[in-house]
Amino acid sequence: MSSVSVSPCAGIAGEISVAGDKSISHRAAIISALASGASSIEGFLRSEDCLSTLRIVEQLGAAVSESGGRISIQGCAGSMRSPEAQLDCGNSGTGMRLLAGVLAGQPFESILTGDASLSSRPMKRISQPLELMGAEVRLTGDRGTAPVTVKGARLKAISYELPVASAQVKSCILLAGLFAEGDTVVMEPKETRNHTELMLADAGADVSANGLTVTLKGGGIKRLKGMDWDVPGDFSSAAFWIVCAAAREGASVSLKDVGLNPRRTALLEALRRMGADIAVEAKGSGASEPVGDITVKGARLTGTEIGGAEIPNLVDEVPILAVAGALSEGRTVIRDAQELRVKESDRLSVMAKCLESAGVVVEETEDGMIIDGSASIKGGCAVESSGDHRIAMAMAVAGLCASDGIEVRDVDCVLTSYPTFWDDMNKVAEGCCG
Ligand code: S3P
Repeated sequence: MSSVSVSPCAGIAGEISVAGDKSISHRAAIISALASGASSIEGFLRSEDCLSTLRIVEQLGAAVSESGGRISIQGCAGSMRSPEAQLDCGNSGTGMRLLAGVLAGQPFESILTGDASLSSRPMKRISQPLELMGAEVRLTGDRGTAPVTVKGARLKAISYELPVASAQVKSCILLAGLFAEGDTVVMEPKETRNHTELMLADAGADVSANGLTVTLKGGGIKRLKGMDWDVPGDFSSAAFWIVCAAAREGASVSLKDVGLNPRRTALLEALRRMGADIAVEAKGSGASEPVGDITVKGARLTGTEIGGAEIPNLVDEVPILAVAGALSEGRTVIRDAQELRVKESDRLSVMAKCLESAGVVVEETEDGMIIDGSASIKGGCAVESSGDHRIAMAMAVAGLCASDGIEVRDVDCVLTSYPTFWDDMNKVAEGCCG
Protein backbone atom coordinates (compact mmCIF):
# COMPACT_ATOMS: atom_id res chain seq x y z
CA MET A 1 0.00 0.00 0.00
CA SER A 2 1.58 3.24 -1.03
CA SER A 3 1.55 6.55 0.73
CA VAL A 4 2.26 10.14 -0.33
CA SER A 5 3.68 12.94 1.79
CA VAL A 6 2.13 16.23 0.82
CA SER A 7 4.07 19.34 1.84
CA PRO A 8 2.56 22.76 2.34
CA CYS A 9 2.86 24.80 -0.81
CA ALA A 10 3.86 28.43 -1.18
CA GLY A 11 1.10 29.21 -3.68
CA ILE A 12 -1.65 27.63 -5.75
CA ALA A 13 -1.87 28.66 -9.40
CA GLY A 14 -2.31 27.16 -12.83
CA GLU A 15 -4.67 25.62 -15.33
CA ILE A 16 -6.02 22.07 -15.34
CA SER A 17 -8.07 20.05 -17.85
CA VAL A 18 -9.46 17.52 -15.41
CA ALA A 19 -10.04 13.91 -16.45
CA GLY A 20 -13.37 12.75 -17.91
CA ASP A 21 -16.56 12.41 -15.89
CA LYS A 22 -16.81 9.06 -14.14
CA SER A 23 -20.61 8.80 -14.01
CA ILE A 24 -20.94 9.75 -17.68
CA SER A 25 -18.16 7.36 -18.75
CA HIS A 26 -19.91 4.40 -17.07
CA ARG A 27 -23.20 5.31 -18.71
CA ALA A 28 -21.64 5.92 -22.15
CA ALA A 29 -20.10 2.41 -22.05
CA ILE A 30 -23.35 0.77 -20.91
CA ILE A 31 -25.75 2.62 -23.22
CA SER A 32 -23.42 2.14 -26.21
CA ALA A 33 -23.21 -1.59 -25.46
CA LEU A 34 -27.01 -1.82 -25.38
CA ALA A 35 -27.67 0.24 -28.51
CA SER A 36 -28.04 -0.94 -32.10
CA GLY A 37 -25.03 0.05 -34.15
CA ALA A 38 -21.69 1.67 -33.46
CA SER A 39 -20.86 4.31 -30.85
CA SER A 40 -17.72 6.21 -30.03
CA ILE A 41 -16.64 7.78 -26.75
CA GLU A 42 -14.24 10.70 -26.68
CA GLY A 43 -12.74 11.57 -23.29
CA PHE A 44 -13.72 8.26 -21.63
CA LEU A 45 -12.27 8.21 -18.10
CA ARG A 46 -9.61 5.51 -18.06
CA SER A 47 -9.91 4.95 -14.31
CA GLU A 48 -10.12 1.51 -12.72
CA ASP A 49 -13.87 1.89 -12.05
CA CYS A 50 -14.77 2.77 -15.61
CA LEU A 51 -12.37 0.22 -17.09
CA SER A 52 -14.15 -2.48 -15.02
CA THR A 53 -17.44 -1.50 -16.62
CA LEU A 54 -15.85 -1.47 -20.07
CA ARG A 55 -14.46 -4.99 -19.53
CA ILE A 56 -17.87 -6.20 -18.37
CA VAL A 57 -19.74 -4.91 -21.41
CA GLU A 58 -17.11 -6.71 -23.49
CA GLN A 59 -17.72 -9.93 -21.52
CA LEU A 60 -21.40 -9.42 -22.31
CA GLY A 61 -20.76 -9.36 -26.05
CA ALA A 62 -20.16 -5.72 -27.02
CA ALA A 63 -17.15 -5.28 -29.32
CA VAL A 64 -14.84 -2.69 -27.77
CA SER A 65 -11.80 -1.18 -29.49
CA GLU A 66 -9.64 1.85 -28.98
CA SER A 67 -7.75 4.12 -31.28
CA GLY A 68 -6.11 7.45 -30.56
CA GLY A 69 -7.74 7.66 -27.13
CA ARG A 70 -11.23 7.20 -28.57
CA ILE A 71 -13.24 4.14 -27.51
CA SER A 72 -15.46 2.47 -30.13
CA ILE A 73 -18.25 0.13 -29.10
CA GLN A 74 -20.38 -2.03 -31.36
CA GLY A 75 -23.65 -2.48 -29.50
CA CYS A 76 -25.60 -5.68 -28.97
CA ALA A 77 -29.03 -4.23 -29.81
CA GLY A 78 -30.23 -5.19 -26.34
CA SER A 79 -29.30 -8.90 -26.58
CA MET A 80 -26.23 -9.55 -24.52
CA ARG A 81 -24.19 -12.74 -24.39
CA SER A 82 -24.27 -14.97 -21.34
CA PRO A 83 -20.83 -14.39 -19.75
CA GLU A 84 -18.43 -17.27 -19.18
CA ALA A 85 -17.09 -15.85 -15.91
CA GLN A 86 -18.23 -13.68 -13.04
CA LEU A 87 -18.45 -9.95 -13.72
CA ASP A 88 -15.94 -8.07 -11.55
CA CYS A 89 -17.05 -4.49 -10.83
CA GLY A 90 -13.95 -3.77 -8.71
CA ASN A 91 -14.64 -0.82 -6.40
CA SER A 92 -17.52 0.60 -8.43
CA GLY A 93 -21.00 0.93 -6.97
CA THR A 94 -22.13 2.69 -10.15
CA GLY A 95 -20.93 -0.20 -12.31
CA MET A 96 -22.57 -2.85 -10.13
CA ARG A 97 -25.91 -1.12 -9.65
CA LEU A 98 -26.37 0.02 -13.24
CA LEU A 99 -25.27 -3.29 -14.75
CA ALA A 100 -27.65 -5.19 -12.46
CA GLY A 101 -30.48 -3.28 -14.14
CA VAL A 102 -29.25 -4.29 -17.58
CA LEU A 103 -28.79 -7.95 -16.56
CA ALA A 104 -32.32 -8.11 -15.15
CA GLY A 105 -33.61 -7.90 -18.72
CA GLN A 106 -31.34 -10.63 -20.16
CA PRO A 107 -32.39 -14.28 -20.59
CA PHE A 108 -29.54 -15.73 -18.50
CA GLU A 109 -28.06 -15.79 -15.02
CA SER A 110 -24.90 -13.87 -14.19
CA ILE A 111 -22.94 -12.88 -11.09
CA LEU A 112 -21.64 -9.40 -10.25
CA THR A 113 -18.75 -9.27 -7.79
CA GLY A 114 -16.66 -6.49 -6.28
CA ASP A 115 -13.75 -5.73 -3.97
CA ALA A 116 -14.01 -5.74 -0.16
CA SER A 117 -15.43 -2.20 -0.03
CA LEU A 118 -18.07 -2.80 -2.72
CA SER A 119 -18.94 -6.15 -1.10
CA SER A 120 -19.92 -4.32 2.07
CA ARG A 121 -22.29 -1.81 0.42
CA PRO A 122 -26.10 -2.19 0.48
CA MET A 123 -27.60 -3.91 -2.57
CA LYS A 124 -31.17 -4.54 -1.34
CA ARG A 125 -31.94 -1.10 -2.70
CA ILE A 126 -31.55 -2.56 -6.21
CA SER A 127 -32.70 -6.16 -5.64
CA GLN A 128 -36.09 -5.03 -4.31
CA PRO A 129 -37.23 -3.03 -7.36
CA LEU A 130 -35.67 -5.50 -9.82
CA GLU A 131 -37.60 -8.35 -8.18
CA LEU A 132 -40.80 -6.33 -8.40
CA MET A 133 -40.11 -6.09 -12.13
CA GLY A 134 -39.85 -9.89 -12.33
CA ALA A 135 -36.11 -10.63 -12.18
CA GLU A 136 -34.63 -13.02 -9.64
CA VAL A 137 -31.87 -11.31 -7.67
CA ARG A 138 -29.90 -13.05 -4.92
CA LEU A 139 -27.56 -11.15 -2.65
CA THR A 140 -25.12 -13.82 -1.61
CA GLY A 141 -22.88 -11.65 0.61
CA ASP A 142 -23.27 -11.56 4.39
CA ARG A 143 -25.82 -8.79 4.83
CA GLY A 144 -27.78 -7.88 1.72
CA THR A 145 -24.50 -7.39 -0.09
CA ALA A 146 -22.60 -8.56 -3.19
CA PRO A 147 -21.93 -10.93 -4.86
CA VAL A 148 -25.19 -10.22 -6.70
CA THR A 149 -26.66 -13.03 -8.79
CA VAL A 150 -29.12 -11.77 -11.37
CA LYS A 151 -31.39 -14.14 -13.25
CA GLY A 152 -33.03 -12.07 -15.95
CA ALA A 153 -36.63 -12.41 -17.07
CA ARG A 154 -39.29 -10.79 -19.19
CA LEU A 155 -39.75 -7.67 -17.13
CA LYS A 156 -42.87 -5.72 -16.33
CA ALA A 157 -42.76 -2.00 -15.74
CA ILE A 158 -43.16 -0.65 -12.21
CA SER A 159 -43.97 2.64 -10.61
CA TYR A 160 -41.45 2.96 -7.82
CA GLU A 161 -40.88 5.44 -5.04
CA LEU A 162 -37.17 5.45 -4.16
CA PRO A 163 -36.65 5.03 -0.41
CA VAL A 164 -33.28 6.84 -0.66
CA ALA A 165 -32.15 9.63 -2.96
CA SER A 166 -29.83 7.60 -5.18
CA ALA A 167 -28.97 8.18 -8.82
CA GLN A 168 -27.51 4.69 -9.00
CA VAL A 169 -30.76 3.05 -7.92
CA LYS A 170 -32.84 5.31 -10.19
CA SER A 171 -30.54 4.43 -13.09
CA CYS A 172 -30.69 0.71 -12.32
CA ILE A 173 -34.49 0.79 -12.56
CA LEU A 174 -34.51 2.91 -15.72
CA LEU A 175 -32.02 0.61 -17.47
CA ALA A 176 -34.15 -2.41 -16.52
CA GLY A 177 -37.17 -0.41 -17.70
CA LEU A 178 -35.69 -0.38 -21.22
CA PHE A 179 -36.63 -4.08 -21.38
CA ALA A 180 -39.98 -3.85 -19.59
CA GLU A 181 -43.46 -3.96 -20.99
CA GLY A 182 -45.18 -0.69 -20.17
CA ASP A 183 -43.98 2.61 -18.76
CA THR A 184 -41.47 2.64 -15.92
CA VAL A 185 -41.93 5.43 -13.40
CA VAL A 186 -39.38 6.36 -10.72
CA MET A 187 -40.14 8.95 -8.03
CA GLU A 188 -37.19 10.38 -6.14
CA PRO A 189 -37.35 11.94 -2.66
CA LYS A 190 -34.86 14.61 -3.78
CA GLU A 191 -33.31 15.45 -7.13
CA THR A 192 -30.23 13.36 -7.90
CA ARG A 193 -27.87 13.46 -10.86
CA ASN A 194 -29.80 12.86 -14.10
CA HIS A 195 -27.11 11.68 -16.52
CA THR A 196 -28.97 8.44 -17.27
CA GLU A 197 -32.17 10.24 -18.24
CA LEU A 198 -30.35 12.78 -20.41
CA MET A 199 -28.15 10.21 -22.14
CA LEU A 200 -30.95 7.69 -22.74
CA ALA A 201 -33.08 10.45 -24.25
CA ASP A 202 -30.20 11.48 -26.49
CA ALA A 203 -29.74 7.89 -27.63
CA GLY A 204 -33.41 7.66 -28.65
CA ALA A 205 -35.36 6.43 -25.62
CA ASP A 206 -38.57 8.21 -24.69
CA VAL A 207 -37.79 9.46 -21.19
CA SER A 208 -39.16 12.54 -19.49
CA ALA A 209 -38.97 14.17 -16.09
CA ASN A 210 -41.66 16.08 -14.30
CA GLY A 211 -40.42 17.42 -10.97
CA LEU A 212 -39.20 14.44 -8.99
CA THR A 213 -40.89 11.89 -11.28
CA VAL A 214 -39.07 10.26 -14.20
CA THR A 215 -41.01 8.25 -16.79
CA LEU A 216 -39.49 5.91 -19.36
CA LYS A 217 -41.84 4.65 -22.07
CA GLY A 218 -41.91 0.89 -22.71
CA GLY A 219 -40.00 -0.68 -25.59
CA GLY A 220 -37.06 1.67 -25.03
CA ILE A 221 -34.40 -0.88 -25.91
CA LYS A 222 -35.56 -1.02 -29.55
CA ARG A 223 -35.12 2.73 -29.87
CA LEU A 224 -31.52 3.02 -28.65
CA LYS A 225 -29.12 3.95 -31.42
CA GLY A 226 -25.35 4.29 -31.51
CA MET A 227 -23.99 7.66 -30.41
CA ASP A 228 -20.84 9.76 -30.54
CA TRP A 229 -20.34 10.71 -26.91
CA ASP A 230 -18.04 13.51 -25.84
CA VAL A 231 -17.39 13.14 -22.11
CA PRO A 232 -16.86 16.43 -20.25
CA GLY A 233 -14.35 16.86 -17.40
CA ASP A 234 -15.53 15.52 -14.04
CA PHE A 235 -16.84 18.25 -11.74
CA SER A 236 -16.15 15.95 -8.77
CA SER A 237 -12.46 15.85 -9.75
CA ALA A 238 -12.37 19.60 -10.39
CA ALA A 239 -13.83 20.06 -6.89
CA PHE A 240 -10.47 19.31 -5.22
CA TRP A 241 -8.78 22.21 -7.00
CA ILE A 242 -11.80 24.49 -6.64
CA VAL A 243 -11.63 24.17 -2.85
CA CYS A 244 -7.84 24.26 -2.77
CA ALA A 245 -7.79 27.61 -4.62
CA ALA A 246 -10.94 29.08 -3.03
CA ALA A 247 -9.58 28.85 0.49
CA ARG A 248 -6.10 30.23 -0.23
CA GLU A 249 -5.68 33.99 -0.49
CA GLY A 250 -3.69 34.90 -3.60
CA ALA A 251 -4.46 31.60 -5.37
CA SER A 252 -5.77 31.46 -8.93
CA VAL A 253 -6.76 28.24 -10.73
CA SER A 254 -8.65 27.60 -13.99
CA LEU A 255 -10.41 24.33 -14.66
CA LYS A 256 -11.11 23.72 -18.34
CA ASP A 257 -14.05 21.93 -20.00
CA VAL A 258 -15.78 20.79 -16.84
CA GLY A 259 -19.28 19.24 -16.84
CA LEU A 260 -21.67 21.77 -15.31
CA ASN A 261 -24.86 19.77 -14.91
CA PRO A 262 -26.64 21.68 -12.10
CA ARG A 263 -27.32 18.39 -10.32
CA ARG A 264 -23.59 18.05 -9.82
CA THR A 265 -22.46 21.56 -8.99
CA ALA A 266 -24.11 22.45 -5.66
CA LEU A 267 -20.59 22.74 -4.20
CA LEU A 268 -20.23 26.05 -6.07
CA GLU A 269 -23.25 27.54 -4.27
CA ALA A 270 -22.04 26.27 -0.90
CA LEU A 271 -18.58 27.77 -1.46
CA ARG A 272 -20.04 31.06 -2.66
CA ARG A 273 -22.04 31.28 0.58
CA MET A 274 -18.70 30.86 2.32
CA GLY A 275 -17.34 33.85 0.40
CA ALA A 276 -15.51 32.09 -2.45
CA ASP A 277 -14.65 33.97 -5.63
CA ILE A 278 -15.69 31.62 -8.44
CA ALA A 279 -16.44 32.55 -12.07
CA VAL A 280 -18.05 30.12 -14.51
CA GLU A 281 -17.96 30.53 -18.26
CA ALA A 282 -20.41 28.29 -20.13
CA LYS A 283 -18.97 26.90 -23.38
CA GLY A 284 -21.48 24.51 -24.93
CA SER A 285 -22.20 20.88 -24.21
CA GLY A 286 -20.75 17.37 -24.13
CA ALA A 287 -22.67 14.06 -23.76
CA SER A 288 -25.94 16.06 -23.42
CA GLU A 289 -24.50 18.12 -20.56
CA PRO A 290 -23.55 21.77 -20.17
CA VAL A 291 -19.77 22.31 -20.15
CA GLY A 292 -17.61 25.30 -19.26
CA ASP A 293 -14.51 26.70 -17.58
CA ILE A 294 -14.33 27.50 -13.88
CA THR A 295 -11.93 30.11 -12.55
CA VAL A 296 -11.32 30.34 -8.82
CA LYS A 297 -9.47 33.05 -6.98
CA GLY A 298 -8.50 32.68 -3.35
CA ALA A 299 -10.47 34.52 -0.64
CA ARG A 300 -11.16 34.43 3.09
CA LEU A 301 -13.92 31.90 3.69
CA THR A 302 -16.42 31.72 6.54
CA GLY A 303 -18.42 28.69 7.70
CA THR A 304 -21.87 27.76 6.34
CA GLU A 305 -24.66 25.20 6.75
CA ILE A 306 -25.14 22.50 4.14
CA GLY A 307 -28.08 20.07 4.07
CA GLY A 308 -31.48 19.12 2.62
CA ALA A 309 -31.95 19.02 -1.14
CA GLU A 310 -28.43 20.29 -1.67
CA ILE A 311 -26.80 17.08 -0.43
CA PRO A 312 -27.42 14.75 -3.43
CA ASN A 313 -26.07 17.45 -5.73
CA LEU A 314 -22.76 17.57 -3.87
CA VAL A 315 -22.79 14.05 -2.44
CA ASP A 316 -19.28 13.16 -3.64
CA GLU A 317 -17.90 16.55 -2.61
CA VAL A 318 -18.65 16.26 1.12
CA PRO A 319 -15.08 15.14 2.04
CA ILE A 320 -13.47 18.11 0.27
CA LEU A 321 -16.21 20.42 1.56
CA ALA A 322 -15.23 19.36 5.07
CA VAL A 323 -11.68 20.47 4.25
CA ALA A 324 -13.12 23.80 3.06
CA GLY A 325 -14.90 24.04 6.43
CA ALA A 326 -11.60 23.54 8.26
CA LEU A 327 -9.97 26.25 6.14
CA SER A 328 -12.80 28.70 6.90
CA GLU A 329 -13.34 30.94 9.87
CA GLY A 330 -16.22 29.81 12.10
CA ARG A 331 -18.64 26.89 12.14
CA THR A 332 -19.58 24.70 9.16
CA VAL A 333 -22.47 22.29 9.71
CA ILE A 334 -23.11 19.40 7.30
CA ARG A 335 -26.40 17.55 7.85
CA ASP A 336 -28.74 15.12 6.01
CA ALA A 337 -25.68 13.32 4.65
CA GLN A 338 -26.22 9.87 6.22
CA GLU A 339 -25.82 8.25 2.76
CA LEU A 340 -22.12 9.00 3.12
CA ARG A 341 -21.91 6.17 5.62
CA VAL A 342 -22.47 3.62 2.82
CA LYS A 343 -20.11 4.99 0.18
CA GLU A 344 -16.66 3.50 -0.55
CA SER A 345 -16.06 3.93 3.20
CA ASP A 346 -18.10 5.46 6.03
CA ARG A 347 -17.04 8.89 4.83
CA LEU A 348 -18.45 10.79 7.81
CA SER A 349 -16.51 8.75 10.31
CA VAL A 350 -13.29 8.40 8.29
CA MET A 351 -13.19 12.07 7.30
CA ALA A 352 -13.88 13.28 10.86
CA LYS A 353 -11.03 11.07 12.14
CA CYS A 354 -8.61 12.29 9.47
CA LEU A 355 -9.38 15.95 10.13
CA GLU A 356 -9.13 15.44 13.87
CA SER A 357 -5.65 13.94 13.54
CA ALA A 358 -4.70 16.98 11.46
CA GLY A 359 -5.67 19.20 14.40
CA VAL A 360 -9.11 20.32 13.17
CA VAL A 361 -11.92 20.78 15.71
CA VAL A 362 -14.61 18.49 14.29
CA GLU A 363 -17.56 16.58 15.71
CA GLU A 364 -19.09 13.69 13.81
CA THR A 365 -22.89 13.63 14.01
CA GLU A 366 -25.37 10.94 12.96
CA ASP A 367 -25.99 12.54 9.57
CA GLY A 368 -23.01 14.81 9.05
CA MET A 369 -20.39 16.74 10.96
CA ILE A 370 -19.75 20.05 12.64
CA ILE A 371 -16.44 21.72 11.93
CA ASP A 372 -15.17 24.66 13.92
CA GLY A 373 -12.82 26.15 11.38
CA SER A 374 -9.84 28.30 12.26
CA ALA A 375 -8.90 29.21 8.68
CA SER A 376 -5.92 26.86 8.94
CA ILE A 377 -4.98 23.20 9.31
CA LYS A 378 -1.98 22.14 11.38
CA GLY A 379 -1.29 18.69 9.90
CA GLY A 380 2.06 17.14 10.75
CA CYS A 381 0.41 13.71 10.87
CA ALA A 382 -0.20 10.57 8.84
CA VAL A 383 -3.81 9.71 7.95
CA GLU A 384 -5.37 6.54 6.53
CA SER A 385 -7.64 6.85 3.49
CA SER A 386 -9.39 3.56 4.38
CA GLY A 387 -9.04 2.70 0.69
CA ASP A 388 -11.47 5.48 -0.21
CA HIS A 389 -10.35 7.57 -3.20
CA ARG A 390 -12.23 10.73 -2.26
CA ILE A 391 -10.85 10.69 1.30
CA ALA A 392 -7.30 10.19 -0.03
CA MET A 393 -7.64 13.16 -2.42
CA ALA A 394 -9.42 15.43 0.09
CA MET A 395 -6.70 14.81 2.68
CA ALA A 396 -3.97 15.36 0.09
CA VAL A 397 -5.47 18.79 -0.61
CA ALA A 398 -5.66 19.36 3.16
CA GLY A 399 -1.91 18.53 3.23
CA LEU A 400 -1.14 21.23 0.64
CA CYS A 401 -2.89 23.74 2.87
CA ALA A 402 -1.61 22.43 6.24
CA SER A 403 1.24 24.27 7.94
CA ASP A 404 3.11 21.01 8.66
CA GLY A 405 1.96 18.94 5.64
CA ILE A 406 0.19 15.56 5.81
CA GLU A 407 1.22 12.02 4.89
CA VAL A 408 -1.72 10.26 3.23
CA ARG A 409 -1.55 6.45 3.47
CA ASP A 410 -3.21 3.94 1.17
CA VAL A 411 -3.47 6.17 -1.88
CA ASP A 412 -3.63 3.57 -4.69
CA CYS A 413 -7.43 3.96 -4.53
CA VAL A 414 -7.07 7.34 -6.29
CA LEU A 415 -6.74 5.33 -9.52
CA THR A 416 -10.40 4.29 -9.27
CA SER A 417 -11.66 7.75 -10.21
CA TYR A 418 -8.84 10.21 -10.97
CA PRO A 419 -5.66 8.56 -12.31
CA THR A 420 -4.05 11.94 -13.13
CA PHE A 421 -4.70 13.46 -9.69
CA TRP A 422 -1.03 13.66 -8.64
CA ASP A 423 0.01 15.11 -12.02
CA ASP A 424 -2.68 17.76 -11.66
CA MET A 425 -1.53 18.47 -8.11
CA ASN A 426 1.94 19.12 -9.48
CA LYS A 427 0.46 21.51 -12.04
CA VAL A 428 -0.99 23.81 -9.36
CA ALA A 429 1.48 23.15 -6.54
CA GLU A 430 4.73 21.97 -8.07
CA GLY A 431 6.94 19.75 -5.98
CA CYS A 432 4.52 19.37 -3.06
CA CYS A 433 3.86 15.64 -3.25
CA GLY A 434 6.35 12.83 -3.06
C1 S3P B 1 -23.34 8.09 -8.89
C2 S3P B 1 -24.28 8.47 -7.99
C3 S3P B 1 -23.97 8.87 -6.60
C4 S3P B 1 -22.48 9.10 -6.38
C5 S3P B 1 -21.64 8.08 -7.07
C6 S3P B 1 -21.91 8.05 -8.56
C7 S3P B 1 -23.77 7.72 -10.24
O1 S3P B 1 -24.43 7.85 -5.77
O2 S3P B 1 -22.19 9.12 -5.01
O3 S3P B 1 -20.25 8.38 -6.87
O4 S3P B 1 -22.93 7.65 -11.15
O5 S3P B 1 -24.98 7.51 -10.43
P1 S3P B 1 -25.98 7.75 -5.32
O6 S3P B 1 -26.47 6.47 -5.84
O7 S3P B 1 -25.92 7.88 -3.84
O8 S3P B 1 -26.74 8.89 -5.94
